[in-house]
Order: sequence, then structure tokens, then C-alpha cells
Amino acid sequence: MKTEQLAQEVAKRRTFAIISHPDAGKTTITEQMLLFGGVIRSAGTVKGKKTGNYATSDWMEIEKKRGISVTSSVMEFDYQGKHVNILDTPGHEDFSEDTYRTLMAVDAAVMVIDSAKGIEAQTKKLFKVVKQRGIPIFTFMNKLDRDGREPLDLIGELEDLLNIEGCAMNWPMGSGKTLRGLYDMHNQRVELYHPTNEDQRFVALDANGHLPADNELTADSIYQQTLDDVSLLQEAGNTFDPEKIAQGKQTPVFFGSALTNFGVQTFLDEFLRLAPAPSSHKLADDQEIAADASQFSGFVFKIQANMNPKHRDRIAFIRIGSGEFTQGMDVTLQRTQKDLRLNNATEFMSDQREQVKHAVAGDIVGLYDTGNFQIGDTIYTGKQALKYPALPQFTPEMFMEVTAKNVMKQKSFHKGMQQLVQEGAVQLYRNYQTGDYILGAVGQLQFEVFKFRMQNEYNTEVVMKPIGSRIARWIDPEQLDPAMSSTRNILVKDLHDQPLFLFENQFAQRWFSDKYPDVKLTAKL
Ligand code: G4P
Repeated sequence: MKTEQLAQEVAKRRTFAIISHPDAGKTTITEQMLLFGGVIRSAGTVKGKKTGNYATSDWMEIEKKRGISVTSSVMEFDYQGKHVNILDTPGHEDFSEDTYRTLMAVDAAVMVIDSAKGIEAQTKKLFKVVKQRGIPIFTFMNKLDRDGREPLDLIGELEDLLNIEGCAMNWPMGSGKTLRGLYDMHNQRVELYHPTNEDQRFVALDANGHLPADNELTADSIYQQTLDDVSLLQEAGNTFDPEKIAQGKQTPVFFGSALTNFGVQTFLDEFLRLAPAPSSHKLADDQEIAADASQFSGFVFKIQANMNPKHRDRIAFIRIGSGEFTQGMDVTLQRTQKDLRLNNATEFMSDQREQVKHAVAGDIVGLYDTGNFQIGDTIYTGKQALKYPALPQFTPEMFMEVTAKNVMKQKSFHKGMQQLVQEGAVQLYRNYQTGDYILGAVGQLQFEVFKFRMQNEYNTEVVMKPIGSRIARWIDPEQLDPAMSSTRNILVKDLHDQPLFLFENQFAQRWFSDKYPDVKLTAKL
């Protein structure tokens, strides 16, 4: 591809993830977007929630049984001259480190909030990771067709709980049964909730921000209330600041209802206009590589095993950071300096997989892997070596003691354990005193996947004893005295032999800090 064409292709990319708490409406809004993109023809086809239809999926057994997706799959479509990549962040019981790592591979995030509930726990956790990256965050306040909280309250909560400025792009005119529409100050129009005629969905506002005098809404008290709210916002609200948005310090806020497809297209249009195309990427040595550089490079942010049980394959998900990918190209794997030919790549659309022949910076490709890749690996073309920064580690919150059921299976137990841990499926710790294995994860499903794979791939039945949710905090080895540990704060070491405590709860951690005020405890991300 010529330099100019590559730059044009890259500029079209919009790669993002949706962060939300379960049930806020992530699936519903994703489906609406896929409808706009022409990828699906009717809603309800992504998860097959209602129909329970997983027949076309060849995802692993466990996933089918639970009716959830273990895979952070990638959905892509073309819309209004843009090539959109939505990376799924599994959120229900399948919340895992993959959910976090996916956020390392996107250029922007969309935060979907249930307007009756406000900011919930999982949104907060995911937000923290996105904020750390300093990428733009766009907010969609969902379920406007139901009675929700006061819009001003919802905006205030962004600042109070997430420490980010909210800038309203449009404003609800009523809610629930009284929902009339959206007052869209950004586009100087009103978007009607139930237009009598589809052509009249949008009504332009005059220079003073008013509806034409003959519009029937002008006599409605809800419209008057909206005008009051909007003038209050103009005086006291945050002013739209593209620079702050680019740095993730301000979030543009849109209201709507994903289920009734109200305000979703307005959101998508504005989002695609404001969200960034892939730009330059920081490297481990603090240099940067431009997205439209001729040198191809990318990093592995996730490895998914056994997507097809018949083939026992693994797929390494690569975020392309620069240049162009073509089928059959030769690359260098930075960690081993081995040359690889990328013959077998796949791109993802829901549950179908297609061969990808061509992709550019911003896109995600899945490479069939026979054990070459590890999470965080860099691949590149050309003579000039380059390396992406290491992916952050996320502090596990749930822990299990694990042993092989059959003592004769120790060898395969250790092999399986080693490989799955290397893949990043779970974190492994050892009890400081006894040497017993302890697994850590950010979500319950990681344990189930681990158990399933130990059985199926390594023929080893494992016994897991929950030690519950714990708070993991690392301690400087210099300050460590093994006598500090107890059942309320188990002392373990990680894969790099670094000591840490697993505190039973916040109370136990506070008690510890009171007793040893000079000891510094640190969390990972
Ligand atoms: P999630 O992926 O974030 O977990 O949420 P999902 O889209 O599955 O939505 C959760 C529930 O909220 C669904 O109802 C969905 O229909 C509903 N929902 C989503 N957006 C809106 C909205 O704008 N307004 C209203 N009123 N409801 C909305 P459910 O009954 O739990 O699931 P389903 O069985 O109908 O799929």
C-alpha cells in the first residue's frame, strides 16, 4: 500500500471498547451500532440471549453451558466512511484480566451508565484502567425511556465518583413516560422521541436556542423546564474542551435509550467524529512509532485457547500499532528474535470467523498460535527492532488453593500450571511458608476455565479450595518479617519471588498498617 493510502486507511479507524456495569445496556447499544453498520439485520443476535441460539458458535463448552462469552471478541463494521472496531469487554460472571487487558488495545472508551442507577462498581473498576491510559472516554446515559435520576445529579456523580468533568452534549426533555425528546445543544436541534412522522425527528432550534413558535412542544411545561436546565448548564456547566477530552479529563455526555434506539445514532455520529484515529504509540524505550509508519508492528493483548475444541488451537489477538498487515508476511517476534510467517490470521465478527487478508494500524487480527506467543509480545517487520511497553498487571481479588487430585499426575499438573499461568489465564502464588500453590484471578470464571483446561488439555483433575476474596498488597522484601503473617493476612510470593500479603478484608489491612506503620504496601493496577 502506498504511504498516502496507508495514512488514509489508518485515519478511518476508530477502535474502542464499551465499559459498563452488567445490565446497563452494553449489549443493546452494541447491537444498535451493528445495525447501523449493516452487520446484523435485527437486534437480539449478538448474545442470542433470548433465543439461546449458540449453534453457529464453536466456542468452548463451558461458554455454551453458561451462555456467556469467554472471548473478548472484536466486532467491526464500516459506517459513514469510518472503519469501526468494537472490542468486547466481558462483564458478567466472565469478568477477567482479559477484560482489563482489552482496554490496553483501544484508542477510546465508551462508558454506558444506567440512568436510574448511576455509576456502579464494575464501571468504576474499568474506568480506573481507562483513566490511567489517558484516552478519551465518551459517556452514554442509558434507559431514558424509564424514570431515572436527575440528569444534573448524574453529571455531578462523574465528577464526585470518577473525578472526570462531564460535558453534556444533549439534554433529556423529560424521562420515562414523560420523555419528549433530546435537546441537542451541540447540533442546535431537538430530537423527538416519538415523532409523528419519521422525517420530523429533528427540529432545528433558532439562534436563541428555541423551538419554532408553532411547535406544539413550546406549550409543554417539560420544554420550559429543559430551557431552564440548559441555561443553568450554560452558566454553571463545564465548557466543551476538545483538548481535555483527548486527554481523558473531560467526558462528553449523551443521553438516550438503547432499547428504543433513541439517541444512539446521534451518539455514534458524534462519537466517531470526536474519537481519535490511531496515532503514534509509545514504545518501551520511550520512542514512538507513528500509526501510519511503513514498518508494521503490533502487540499481543490476549491469548484465547481452544476456541475450536476440535483443533485445540490458540489464538493470539494482536493490536496493530503501526503499518499494514498482509496475509503471509514475515515478522520478527521481539522476545525470542525468531522470524515467523503470519499465514493463518483471522478476523472476528461475532461468532463467525473469516480469514483476514489485510489490516492496518488500529485493527485487531487473531493469529493461530502453536505456542509462540505470550501476552505482551511485540511483533514487527524490518531490521529495526522495536518493543511495546509491558502490559500492566492487575491485582487479583479472588484466590484459591490448588492441588492435583491424583498425586501421580504431578508432572502434567506442573506443566499445565506453568503454561496456563504464562498465558495469563490466572496468576500464580506460593504460600511463603508451605510452598502450596494459590491461584489469583480478578473474576470467578478464570478459575473455572483453568480447571476445565487442566482437565481437557493436561488430563489433570485439580482440586480447588476457595480462600475467598482477598486484598493483595505487595511489601518491600527489606521490610518483611515472616512473623507478620497470619490467617487474616496470608503471606505469599508471586512468580518473580516478590512477597505479598493477602488480606482478609480492609479491616485486616488497616489493622496491619496500624501495627506496622512504617511498612509500605502497594497494589498493582
Ligand atoms: P449488558 O450487556 O450491559 O449487561 O446489558 P444488556 O444490553 O443485556 O441490557 C440489560 C437489560 O436492560 C436488558 O433487559 C435490556 O433489554 C435492557 N435495556 C437495555 N437498554 C435499555 C433501555 O434503553 N431502556 C430499557 N428500558 N431497557 C434497556 P433484560 O430484560 O434483562 O434482558 P433481555 O432478556 O430483554 O435481553
